[in-house]
Amino acid sequence: TRVAVVFGGRSTEHAISCVSAGSILAALDPDEYDVVPVGITRAGQWVLTDGDPARFAITDRRLPEITAAAGATVVLPADPTGDGLMVLDPASGPQALAGVDVVFPALHGAYGEDGTIQGLLEMAGIPYVGANVFASAAAMDKEFTKKLAVAEGIPVGPYVVLRSGVSLTEEDKERLGLPVFVKPSRAGSSVGISKVTDWAALDAAVALARQVDPKVLVEAAIIGREIECGVLEAEAGGGPEASLLAEIRVAEHDFYDFEAKYLDASDFDIPADLPDRVTRQVQDYACRTFTALDCAGLARVDFFVTPELDVYLNEINTMPGFTPTSMFPQMWSATGLEYPKLVNRLIRTALR
Ligand code: DAL
Ligand code: MG
Repeated sequence: TRVAVVFGGRSTEHAISCVSAGSILAALDPDEYDVVPVGITRAGQWVLTDGDPARFAITDRRLPEITAAAGATVVLPADPTGDGLMVLDPASGPQALAGVDVVFPALHGAYGEDGTIQGLLEMAGIPYVGANVFASAAAMDKEFTKKLAVAEGIPVGPYVVLRSGVSLTEEDKERLGLPVFVKPSRAGSSVGISKVTDWAALDAAVALARQVDPKVLVEAAIIGREIECGVLEAEAGGGPEASLLAEIRVAEHDFYDFEAKYLDASDFDIPADLPDRVTRQVQDYACRTFTALDCAGLARVDFFVTPELDVYLNEINTMPGFTPTSMFPQMWSATGLEYPKLVNRLIRTALR
């Protein structure tokens, strides 16, 4: 099977995508797969890389990056410059995917997890791992995730959507209370997110989030535990399957921010120490969110559980992190599906 792993890309999660891809590349058995490692630079240039997983790791807190010069050894089609490196122009970039049986879009955030590459692959008729165009776009956007989840009867906390140019009213502030979280509506890995404990800091937080997305969400902080659940599409018909749950403990950080996620390796428990009833509730909500958004393949669904054991949806990720510290592969490993088997299963599901 010829599988293209696509990573990097134009989003703020470029580096995390590279780290995810490094782990995925290392897990693909060369006897079984003919692997085409396709990097996309921050500028949107597609380059064929040598796929050496060692290049795509976080070393000494330094984040990896795909550039046209380093790590790119190749080239499709033929190399007219003769210098061994060819950068495809963005419009012809997808030529790198010619002849592949399936694509693993290991891309997080905009231009990858949001339906854009999925649309390209649909147009080209190439099967791919994960959610389709609509589900990717809906799940990327925290506003629409909440709206679809609420329609399915899944609880979400109080929030306000600030479209471009709009600010929070006094009424909004009263309803939400402090603290609030200010988030770009379409982003991931906590990039652009601030916790605001004083309304005086709100404008700066909104401006920061708007650097990532003109549409910003202000959410009431739910005081509770951070609980995540992995979901996989069923292998043979039937509804989606939920993993054991993870609880993230971020004692050293104010919240589960970028540093806590990737640089300082937070503490976690798998399975999360919750009463069975609450575990089942979270798993049920996770599977229903997956179905409500029309997801496919995989997703990680994140929740808050309050001290009273009420469960609130936080968000869903249709291409969750696959890094060595990421929860999704660790939850499935604890559930009995080890990393390489998980990757195989996703590819098999995509080809079905
Ligand atoms: N957006 C990051 C990669 C995650 O959800 O794991
Ligand atoms: Mg996310």
